[in-house]
Amino acid sequence: MANMDDRTCVITGSARGIGRGIAETLAQHGANVVINYRSSEDAALAAVEGIESMVGEGSAMAVQADVTDRDALEEMRRKVNDEYGQVHVLINNAGINRDTRFVNMTPDEWTQVLEVNLGGTFNATQIFFDDVWNAEEGRLINISSVVGKQGNFGQANYAAAKSGMFGFTRTLALELAPGGSTANCVAPGFTKTDMLESVPEDVRENIVAQIPLGRFAEIEDIACVVRFLASEESSYVTGEVIDINGGMDL
Ligand SMILES: NC(=O)c1ccc[n+]([C@@H]2O[C@H](COP(=O)([O-])OP(=O)(O)OC[C@H]3O[C@@H](n4cnc5c(N)ncnc54)[C@H](OP(=O)(O)O)[C@@H]3O)[C@@H](O)[C@H]2O)c1
Repeated sequence: MANMDDRTCVITGSARGIGRGIAETLAQHGANVVINYRSSEDAALAAVEGIESMVGEGSAMAVQADVTDRDALEEMRRKVNDEYGQVHVLINNAGINRDTRFVNMTPDEWTQVLEVNLGGTFNATQIFFDDVWNAEEGRLINISSVVGKQGNFGQANYAAAKSGMFGFTRTLALELAPGGSTANCVAPGFTKTDMLESVPEDVRENIVAQIPLGRFAEIEDIACVVRFLASEESSYVTGEVIDINGGMDL
């Protein structure tokens, strides 16, 4: 099913992990995808090459920009508009964690996580706002986390950033609605990426024991829901948070 033909999608932090999976899925459905990266240039170029080699599917370009740097994001927007014209879909995926118990958390660990996860979402959304507003049925999709809903030991900074995305998404849904565009959020559970690899094995075993479906998410579990939200099929869904967590809050 190719239902993203001629749609251009910017995915922040998409050289690897969940972002890359989203980019590949959208391209498989015909989209032009922008692989944004901060430091993973080789992985970004490999992602573009992989997508371009899928005969008959969408196309891809890689653009370096740190989401905390508004000038770099403006430059990215110029490059993308030159290459593809109008951007239809912005997916705020770039994220980091700096985990430690709250009593030990430094102001720097707090600020870094807020600046990338929530500040980066603010920056990219503001810079691509006109694109999403002007697109016919534009889409804003924010990648939050189950941790934003439930909290998690050692992640006060990350939980604060990820739950901040809920109110941000609902407000943007209201502000985009008069133009016919939507804003939604997904809240993945623990997903098999480098971010999860950084969690000690005994902690991971404890987490998986709390997941009713008994396994971590595959990247594809997240990407297919994002593809739905990015497509015209989700026209009447806005301001929602969609949980993809194997039943963790049951
Ligand atoms: N994995 C999970 O269990 C899980 C669960 C729920 C939610 N999430 C969320 O899903 C998103 C993706 O996570 P992931 O697991 O795929 O993480 P990951 O494998 O650690 O990848 C993180 C990505 O974010 C990019 N990034 C980090 N800081 C950036 C910045 N300042 N500017 C631009 N890009 C930046 C990285 O780019 P470079 O490599 O180029 O630096 C990388 O592509 C994050 O928002 C994360 O919070 C993950």
